[in-house]
Amino acid sequence: MRVFVTRNIPNAGIKKLKSAGLEVIVSNKNDILTHSELIEQLKELNPDAVLCLLTDRIDKEVFDAAPNAKIFANYAVGFDNIDLSEAKRRSIIITNTPEVLTEAVAEHAAALIMSLARRIREADIFLRQGRYKGWDPLLLLGMELKGKTLGIIGCGRIGKRLAEIMHHGFGMKIDYYDQNQNEALEKELLAEFSDIDTLLSQADVVSIHLPATPETKHLINTGRLSRMKPTSLLINTARGSIIDEIALTNALKEKDIAGAALDVFEDELAVHPELLTLSNIIMTPHIGSATLEAREKMSLLAADNIISVLNNQTPQNPVI
Ligand code: GLV
Ligand code: GLV
Repeated sequence: MRVFVTRNIPNAGIKKLKSAGLEVIVSNKNDILTHSELIEQLKELNPDAVLCLLTDRIDKEVFDAAPNAKIFANYAVGFDNIDLSEAKRRSIIITNTPEVLTEAVAEHAAALIMSLARRIREADIFLRQGRYKGWDPLLLLGMELKGKTLGIIGCGRIGKRLAEIMHHGFGMKIDYYDQNQNEALEKELLAEFSDIDTLLSQADVVSIHLPATPETKHLINTGRLSRMKPTSLLINTARGSIIDEIALTNALKEKDIAGAALDVFEDELAVHPELLTLSNIIMTPHIGSATLEAREKMSLLAADNIISVLNNQTPQNPVI
């Protein structure tokens, strides 16, 4: 049986698929396949399983091009790139790679919080520009995190792990919003459950950990940004669609909030040009899960999901 992998991934997963006796074909384009290239490849290879990425739009036409594929194993925790109702209608199994990247994404969010709070990016640029003229009591003053409030919007695995890191490591107070109240978390971290608007008005740092859905699109808009304190920082390592970037750009320009850090963008192939001109923002190219450890485990988990399905077993991480 044949597995098509839409882009090169860490070798551990490829090896695992091969040692299960599967024929593995990895896309040889060292770039994102366009939608039509993906369809062309699938038609040509007619795979029994597809290991796809969050950059692949998996829709009706893609399913049509791979009529034998029993599973599309997404190499990501998020699966907003996949038309789930269409997959369900055709009884195609969709899986994701949760848990193995929780630590990596939470640590990246923590890194962004610290970088913003201590103005690391501005400081590095300042120094490289030759502007450092010796120690200065008033140079690049930032915000101490201890005792400040971290507001977590979406407190699933990743949000909860960030809350632990920042509470236990930095002594931050945790406010959280989630569909479900979590009493164990409240006990463990003395966290307070809050509605989004209250959280935004109280938090010194806000970090978003929600999936992209029609309900979360532009959840953070002009009105919500205006509730935030002028000293507050906003972090997004989840999905770009959750923040209205034009509203964020204006809030940063007007200094309605002090800073932002984004790892994800509304249009990941063309980051909003005005964001690039602002100095009070740090941006990283969707590298939340980009640790050697997480990416290797993701490849193993996606391979396991495929192997199970091709052996007529229930996979570990079905999303439908
Ligand atoms: C990354 O964004 C993922 O969903 O795994
Ligand atoms: C995703 O893994 C989450 O639950 O935060």
